[in-house]
Amino acid sequence: VSLLPYNTFRFDYCAEYFAVADSVSCLSALLKWAKKHHHPVTMLGGGSNLLLTNDILGLVIINKLSGMQATVESDNTVTLAISAGERWHAVVAYAVEHRWYGIENLALIPGTAGAAPVQNIGAYGVEIKDVLKRVQVIDVQNSTLHWLEAGECGFSYRDSFFKQHWKAHYFIVSIELTLRKEPALTLHYGGLSAQLEETPTLKSVFDLVCKVRREKLPDPDIIANAGSFFKNPVVDVSEHARLKRQFPNLVSFPFQAGYKLAAGWLIDQAGWKGKCHRGVGVYSKQALVLINQDEKQADALLELEALIQHSVQSKYGVRLEREPVRLPAAEVC
Ligand code: EPU
Repeated sequence: VSLLPYNTFRFDYCAEYFAVADSVSCLSALLKWAKKHHHPVTMLGGGSNLLLTNDILGLVIINKLSGMQATVESDNTVTLAISAGERWHAVVAYAVEHRWYGIENLALIPGTAGAAPVQNIGAYGVEIKDVLKRVQVIDVQNSTLHWLEAGECGFSYRDSFFKQHWKAHYFIVSIELTLRKEPALTLHYGGLSAQLEETPTLKSVFDLVCKVRREKLPDPDIIANAGSFFKNPVVDVSEHARLKRQFPNLVSFPFQAGYKLAAGWLIDQAGWKGKCHRGVGVYSKQALVLINQDEKQADALLELEALIQHSVQSKYGVRLEREPVRLPAAEVC
């Protein structure tokens, strides 16, 4: 089965076996079948943070578990339980409609609710880990269900244990968010605060995030892409000082004990913005996003990735790390 409709880069690789799971019992039966026949299993959500580079051996399952349910926890908070196959943006829109605060800055992020914790999605000063209560997973080996508290999941910038050693061990079945009923907006992100009105509301922040994203980021339904292709690199204070001396306009933000550099700026200033390479390219409005114009396979994109990494390394001495998950993972990157 071709996976072209299931990855937003729209690369045309195949799954040896393919199934759609729309209930936990169906998912459990599929895992048991794969185990019995010794097939490895890969689960996909929206395929919007994915870089396919070859056919996938074994069983590929598309997660279509659906449903959302809210429980009032206290005067101030509500717990929203969401099945993993729900579209993330639909969750954000639902929360805003019900006047629950916490995820409005994460509007229009493509993909599913179940994929959101894997890379700890983040935008405009908010990450899902800030509102995540717990995650329900199914153990791939024995199909048992478990709840993992957010604190156990190893969240960091665009990373979690789900992206690392839990990758083949647990699949996410549902998530629970703690949202606030009282106004609590996160407005400090530069690209946002500059455009906000004097007394922003939940709805106006949501609308502004949608507007900013539509202006800067390509809609994957129209232009094939997987969002930011590189992580913003983190450097220590002395490295940052060296770069700032050499490049006074460097865009960076204090982060933990050091600084996060705007990778989009590094790539842009190295002359890559809007550049094409065979059938792929660098998006003209945001240099951190690589796009696929008409390639069916990932070779040209991997070449472009290496060219950009090499160029940024030699100009700034900074290594850019890929953000989307590459599959199959066993290949040497
Ligand atoms: N910039 C440029 N040229 C560019 C792009 C960016 O000079 O072509 C500079 C600008 O100065 C801009 C700054 O970089 O102010 C930061 O750009 P932007 O606000 O677009 O954010 P980003 O750091 O490039 C990150 C996330 C995005 C997220 C935005 C907003 C990563 C890898 N990316 O991008 O997340 O939407 O911040 O919070 O952290 C994603 O993960 O797929 C994603 C889109």
